[in-house]
Amino acid sequence: MSQLKVTPCKSIQADLRVPGDKSISHRSIMFGALAEGKTRVTGFLRSEDCLCTMRIFQALGVNIEEIDAHHLLIEGSAKKLKPPCEALDCGNSGTSMRLIAGVLAGQTFTSKLFGDASLSNRPMQRIINPLTQMGARILSQGEKGRPPLEIHGQLLKGIDYISPIASAQLKSSILLAGLFAKGKTSVTEPVISRDHTERMLEHFHAKPTIENLKVTLNGETRLHAQDIQVPGDISSAAFWLVAAAASPHSNLTIRDVGLNPTRTGILSVLLRMGAQIRESIETSNAEPFGNIQVKGGHLVGTVVEGEEIPNVIDEIPILSVAAALAEGETIFRNAEELRVKETDRIAAMAGNLRKFGVEVEEFKDGMCVKGGAKLKGAHVKSFGDHRIAMSCAILGLFAEGETIIDDAECITTSYPTFEKDLYEITSNVTSSLKKMVSIGASK
Ligand code: S3P
Repeated sequence: MSQLKVTPCKSIQADLRVPGDKSISHRSIMFGALAEGKTRVTGFLRSEDCLCTMRIFQALGVNIEEIDAHHLLIEGSAKKLKPPCEALDCGNSGTSMRLIAGVLAGQTFTSKLFGDASLSNRPMQRIINPLTQMGARILSQGEKGRPPLEIHGQLLKGIDYISPIASAQLKSSILLAGLFAKGKTSVTEPVISRDHTERMLEHFHAKPTIENLKVTLNGETRLHAQDIQVPGDISSAAFWLVAAAASPHSNLTIRDVGLNPTRTGILSVLLRMGAQIRESIETSNAEPFGNIQVKGGHLVGTVVEGEEIPNVIDEIPILSVAAALAEGETIFRNAEELRVKETDRIAAMAGNLRKFGVEVEEFKDGMCVKGGAKLKGAHVKSFGDHRIAMSCAILGLFAEGETIIDDAECITTSYPTFEKDLYEITSNVTSSLKKMVSIGASK
């Protein structure tokens, strides 16, 4: 089990790129694998989660060549996958399990998806219900619709599904199954969730139609291979954005990062908190991307709730850190989905923030963080959750003394170079502003 150790840093001066977007990297493999022709992917995120998706499609007979660490060549199967020889390991990745279940639901063979202890505890009934309505036979082997999932592929029929939750994983699972179904498949969400699947469908010429919150796809659609350039992950950039926004005299530029409007809620929240941020879109192919600049300053509390939540769902742990560093209270509401992520992120962050000396009131669907307390370094657990580990590392930069994060190896699920970037960024401080920075991982 590795530990991450962090000591204080007064300000951030950096110009960097973050690794590729996790959601888009997963989808680049899936769409490349199902398309006709060869798909070249650049900027692929070589993290544990995305490697699970890659290995699963290789086990389903797809030839994927790793030209170098971030550059793949995928030979599309034209939607003809082969039965796997063994059960398919999704590791820690909910995106792999939920989206691939949609693909496997429409195959002519039986397969099994399983994951690690955290994934084995996550709800799958939300995908089992609509996929069953489409004609699939899916047996949950865990309690109450939990993994492993045994998927008996069937001939599917399209459905018009009104989703009870705003979840891109649920929407994408149904749309991927819809590629194999007879007739049209539609999904209507209560609030828009990230739209990478819709953009990928468009990019691969599947011509989805989008009216307000409803996406419709024609059945038995063919996908045409395309080049994909994966932008930097704004969810990874978020850690540095908060660190810079909350420390006076900081100056940070993040380049070539994804600026899809269904993911940039973090910027809106930080702006409301008084952060000095500028974004500029440089390119807009399938996905818009560009640069973000932040100048450090003073943050104030805000309210994050309602329709904004799906857009910032992965950023709430680091936004709770911004809240701890801000003046006044910040309230998070309508975020009950956080309780069923890689860990219960409300309980994990509330408990960890308290260890740093922050006053937190926990609600069923969120929390109230009282900002501005003097912070002391803490010894905290990651609970096996990458975003909890990285959020606490950033808070450690603002605390007096040393912070230790246990079980920090989970960071590799989304940001394998986080520790190296943290070291480089925090040691790149002009000497008059620099306190002491030391960071390391020990086995
Ligand atoms: C993801 C969707 C989100 C997000 C997850 C990745 C995706 O989950 O939390 O990290 O790639 O579709 P939900 O859409 O289920 O909230």
